[in-house]
Amino acid sequence: MVALKDFGVGKQSIEEKIQDEVGLLMELFSKQGKKPTDCRKMFPKATSNIISSIIFGSRFDFDDPEFNNLLGNIATLFKYAAAFRLENCFPILDKVNPFNKTKLAVEGRREIQKYIATRIESVRCSFDANNIRHFLDVYLEQEEKPDSKISDETLFITIADLYIAGTDTTSVTLQWSMLYMIKYPDVQKKCRNQILEVIGEDRQPVVKDKDNIPYVMATLQEVQRISTIAPLSVPHVAIEDVEIDGKIIPRDTIIIPHLMSVHLDPTVWDKPEEFRPERFLDKDGHFVKKEGFSAFSMGPRLCPGKQLAESELLLFFVSIIQRFNLTKGDDNDQLPMTGIQTGTTNQPHPFKICFIPR
Ligand code: HEM
Repeated sequence: MVALKDFGVGKQSIEEKIQDEVGLLMELFSKQGKKPTDCRKMFPKATSNIISSIIFGSRFDFDDPEFNNLLGNIATLFKYAAAFRLENCFPILDKVNPFNKTKLAVEGRREIQKYIATRIESVRCSFDANNIRHFLDVYLEQEEKPDSKISDETLFITIADLYIAGTDTTSVTLQWSMLYMIKYPDVQKKCRNQILEVIGEDRQPVVKDKDNIPYVMATLQEVQRISTIAPLSVPHVAIEDVEIDGKIIPRDTIIIPHLMSVHLDPTVWDKPEEFRPERFLDKDGHFVKKEGFSAFSMGPRLCPGKQLAESELLLFFVSIIQRFNLTKGDDNDQLPMTGIQTGTTNQPHPFKICFIPR
């Protein structure tokens, strides 16, 4: 993951890639006019394209069938390979189930592997150690070194991990942020006022703007807290016996961190069930980080895509609020705010939203 951090994340080039993708998504929303839209299919295309640009240096057209296949396979893998599925805890269930869905995950993985292998081969043909263009080139450069430990399998797993972990996570967070904005129009208005005051109507937002838009930052943080899109994070295994609060956790125990319980703990957050961005502001209106915030988990295995995800969330969210008034698809829509646990992520119930150009 060092390459991900070194290769431009936080540097201008990655920021520009995100901005390009934001611009294209804004065009797509504009084309919708005032028509109610289901944004669930649009955000993953944008977030996945950012991963493609970082790894391979190119993006897909939104209608490209190969791209849509890839996204379908990522979604299937995310859903059916999730460690928390009963079938993955008790594999016997798959053996007796005629509609064995785990097979779909295996098939999806195979398809992703095929796709990535083809892309790697075409990049390998044009590789030039004097002109490192993207994440894959960084890897290929390492692979050429005599003491290299990189194999095709590790390369595949790394790239697949980035697609799988970097597509739905950010996209689902953006969906939740849209839902909260139509459910709480007063918060949407406050965000817009701050964006227009600091950035204006015409300039495209940049990551550095985050220092001057504390209310917007607080809103994004609050959306992530209350929705906890990875409620059970990723399972870990204790590599040795450990004692925590007088309890022994034996070696080889599978540990499932319950991030949602941290985010909804009333001893940590005042009225945790309430959506209140102000909890991330101090009395002078400055944005404050809270120790209990754990959307990206914690410790040495903290999500390596955190910085990228935060940049994406900021640039997409700010651009959308700057350009569009967001309203419910229909005045009578109830907009349930409880999530659906689909495999690894906690997703909002399907909802319609209107992106009304300002
Ligand atoms: C809002 C968006 C995101 C959220 C909430 C999120 C959350 C998480 C969480 C909770 C974990 C588990 C950490 C642990 O093992 O304790 C994780 C792991 C991971 N994330 Fe993210 N993530 C997001 C976006 C991204 C993006 C954009 C990328 C990549 C480009 C990414 C790449 C990864 C990878 C590769 C892992 C596995 C790391 C490992 O095996 O140790 N994530 N993420």
